[in-house]
Amino acid sequence: MNAAVKPAVLVARRAPTEVLEALRAAFEVDYHDGEVPLSPEALRERLQGKVGVYITGTERITAELLDAAPSLRAVCTMSVGYNHIDLAACTARRVLVTNTPDVLTESTADFGFALLMATARRMSEGERLLRDGGWKSWSWDFLAGAEVHGTTLGILGMGRIGQAIARRGRFGFGMQVVYHNRSRLPADTEAELGARYVGKDELLRAADHLVLVLPYSPESHHCIGAAELALMKPTATLVNVARGGIVDEDALAAALRERRIAAAGLDVFEGEPRVNPALLTLPNVVLTPHIASATLPTRHAMAALAADNLIAALTGAAPPTPLNPEVLSA
Ligand code: DGY
Repeated sequence: MNAAVKPAVLVARRAPTEVLEALRAAFEVDYHDGEVPLSPEALRERLQGKVGVYITGTERITAELLDAAPSLRAVCTMSVGYNHIDLAACTARRVLVTNTPDVLTESTADFGFALLMATARRMSEGERLLRDGGWKSWSWDFLAGAEVHGTTLGILGMGRIGQAIARRGRFGFGMQVVYHNRSRLPADTEAELGARYVGKDELLRAADHLVLVLPYSPESHHCIGAAELALMKPTATLVNVARGGIVDEDALAAALRERRIAAAGLDVFEGEPRVNPALLTLPNVVLTPHIASATLPTRHAMAALAADNLIAALTGAAPPTPLNPEVLSA
């Protein structure tokens, strides 16, 4: 490669200034700074001749797209989740994929716990009532919600974020922690978290508050549906900070409407940014627009890590957080 010619990359979403400057120092950058993500057609068009792409969770990288962009060597997403990327197709074409784990763990866990609290203690419902002029008096059961401290916290998906939520529940709120995960944690980690491994059905039956933090994949699609909701306590709350497609939203809306579970807190939605209309009309659901990792320090750290990955991947250095490192040695 001619040393004077910088590799061409696409930065497909708006990025912090310092991150963009670092990328511009290393690459010839084609920058999409619009608020609306590129359409699949525009993404394909803008990837022509590019060797790398910086994306977020809103751009889908499919096998078809990779075939239409044969110069691509690196896909770096500013997200820990990578269900929007066909990893196997990337690996088969020797395209390196990276994500941004770790840097968002604690702020996402903070938000997961905040959403649990807001849901159990009916905060959004109370604020809506107050703003609408519906606050007339005090009474003993006015907006009475579920207890949080000392109750049983269930966690489905016990990766880094699940463990960080478990710590908040155990050490901050004196909760008993039960969890289910594809693989069981080492005994010393279980002991540190005070977490008990149980089967999925037992988790659903035991949890006063169930938090979903598992990765989204064909296996976890709608893994909380009518049958699973039927196992939960009628007083239970369900919180989803993972991916919308993990929950069958129609089944959840029915369970909430019929008070088969007490409440839900949802930060992610199957068709986001569209929200299932059935959920919008229910009082016992707290809805937030996919912001669990949204603190400025965390978002800067995620963007910087995505850029570091892209720079390393295309300059022969070791990317900090590769998802398919086998591509590097192939
Ligand atoms: C993540 O990092 O996966 C968050 O959900 C933001 O996309």
